[in-house]
Amino acid sequence: MSVKLNRVALIGTGFVGSSYAFALINQGFVDELILIDLNEDKAKGDVMDLNHGKVFASQPTHVRFGSYQDCQNVDIVVICAGANQKPGETRLDLVDKNIQIFKGIVENVMKSGFNGIFLVATNPVDILTYATWKFSGLPSAKVIGSGTTLDTARFRFLLGEYFNVAPTNVHAYIIGEHGDSELPVYSSADIGGVPVMKMIERNDRYKNEDLDDIFVNVRDAAYQIIKGKGATFYGIAMGLARITKAILNNENAILTVSSYLDGQYNEKDVYIGVPAIINRNGIREIVELDLNEKEKEQFHSSSSILKDILSPHFN
Ligand code: 2OP
Repeated sequence: MSVKLNRVALIGTGFVGSSYAFALINQGFVDELILIDLNEDKAKGDVMDLNHGKVFASQPTHVRFGSYQDCQNVDIVVICAGANQKPGETRLDLVDKNIQIFKGIVENVMKSGFNGIFLVATNPVDILTYATWKFSGLPSAKVIGSGTTLDTARFRFLLGEYFNVAPTNVHAYIIGEHGDSELPVYSSADIGGVPVMKMIERNDRYKNEDLDDIFVNVRDAAYQIIKGKGATFYGIAMGLARITKAILNNENAILTVSSYLDGQYNEKDVYIGVPAIINRNGIREIVELDLNEKEKEQFHSSSSILKDILSPHFN
């Protein structure tokens, strides 16, 4: 009986890509990881460096250098390639440059005969996930963006610090554009089953203004990190590894990925961060939260921002 191997190809071995590769080999659920980069020396250097750590890993991951042809038999192609934000730039400033880069990448991957799942991390991620879906011709369920997975993790971390509970016991989402127009869904946020809004009501120690500050810190976290160290990479890399694991292990896990909406949340023809059920087939289903009026309005306006950017490129 032949064993089904989990294979991932990573395109782009910059800070995000190589941190993702490092996260994968430490977690040990991928059998083969193929690194592809225009800068062959960088990718080959990473291959050596990562393989030297194999002896220390709990499960061996075979890492090798590859080309687009090698995407033919992989389960997931993860794209981390493209220009990234300089201090002072927003994620949306990168759109023209990166759409062009993506056209070439996705066409090359598809020429290999690839029929797996695309996972996109490059910014502006919602726009580039849409571009990947268009350029690939794959069903939208098989094209996933990292979306607000990282923002949701930042949110859970900060709420966990504020209420002094483990972030894993905080259930709260950031949805919308992965960027300046995203929003927190406080109406359904809970800590171990107790609504966050009830905790504020019940205890004078906790204040609504603090919740506003927490959201601002989530939304602007990337600017702060970029100012400090030039780029963000560990958080997103771990988020990508989490999505990869949900796919390969057929978890049906709920993650706030960039997903294609076709009527859900009263939106159509846009990729945007919403909770979605992820398994081996990609996005199984969008989870529709019961948003309050203010959240609905914010979500709609975030979606309109994305659609306005998409329209000159994809009409
Ligand atoms: C982040 O949020 C820059 O999108 C990247 O860390």
